[in-house]
Amino acid sequence: MKTRNIDVVLKEHPNYTRVPNCRNSVIYNLQNGEYLKLLSKRLLKVIKNTEYSLDTRLEAAEGLRNIKHLVLPTSKIEQQKDIKGYTTDEIQGKAYDKDIYGLDLSKIANLHSRIEECIQINHDNGVITPDLATEGNIMVMPNGEVRFMDYDGMQINEMQCFQHSLKIGTLEEIEELGYYDGRLELCKKDIDKYTAATLFLESIFGVNVVHFILSISKKAPIESIISVLFEAINLDDDILAQKVANLFIPGAKKEFLGEDISRIASRYELIPALNTPGKRRLRRK
Ligand SMILES: Nc1ncnc2c1ncn2[C@@H]1O[C@H](COP(=O)(O)OP(=O)(O)O)[C@@H](O)[C@H]1O
Ligand SMILES: [Mg+2]
Repeated sequence: MKTRNIDVVLKEHPNYTRVPNCRNSVIYNLQNGEYLKLLSKRLLKVIKNTEYSLDTRLEAAEGLRNIKHLVLPTSKIEQQKDIKGYTTDEIQGKAYDKDIYGLDLSKIANLHSRIEECIQINHDNGVITPDLATEGNIMVMPNGEVRFMDYDGMQINEMQCFQHSLKIGTLEEIEELGYYDGRLELCKKDIDKYTAATLFLESIFGVNVVHFILSISKKAPIESIISVLFEAINLDDDILAQKVANLFIPGAKKEFLGEDISRIASRYELIPALNTPGKRRLRRK
């Protein structure tokens, strides 16, 4: 992979703009079809303390080029020791959020089926994405395809990731749920099934219900929490309820929601609850 100097790149593209509100990085839109991402000093330090350097991680992208939905580094950016990052090609999509498809359940279902398919392709190639549910890490293209952003936050084979989405819980909670393998630094593939389900549930509930489940799961049996939640939005589906419950039971078999998503979409439509902004319920078709 080509290495470029940050000063030279910015001089070549003086009309660059900076992407606001990035917590762990400085990101420039170079206005030439490229984005440039510089990793924070904190993150660079963390990477330095692992056995895989940023260079190794960037080189690993070469083996993933056939995965079209991954937004991969295209060149390495450097300046001396502590400014390091990479460029990516510009993605002209819209950041995924729970309102992206309004209240059309069949569109939400298609989007989530596609996200699960992409996760499966990742798994077949040794890629795990514990940070996927973080705002802005999934982009939806105008034709409905999805792109997974934030390459530096992905787990590639034995190269651990450095963050996970807080939408799926705290580090301790994820560990208790059994989503880390014995060595702790590496996540299990199942974490992505949990993430995908978290996003789907957020889409249909309009709020993150995983936080609610985690906050009371020690006090009540998980199946009954989920049955109360499903009743609250009028969703009657025992198979989905059990699959969701299993995501919160260490050792239980984890599954993609898969066909359950399209079954829900064929049976229900999504409507806002009266007088309760942001809250939703389902109605039988
Ligand atoms: N190649 C790109 N195309 C379009 N937007 C991008 C690109 N790279 C970054 N961005 C924008 O910057 C945001 C943050 O990028 P990301 O790689 O997720 O960094 P962070 O680690 O700060 O979350 C993205 O959500 C997106 O809005
Ligand atoms: Mg991000």
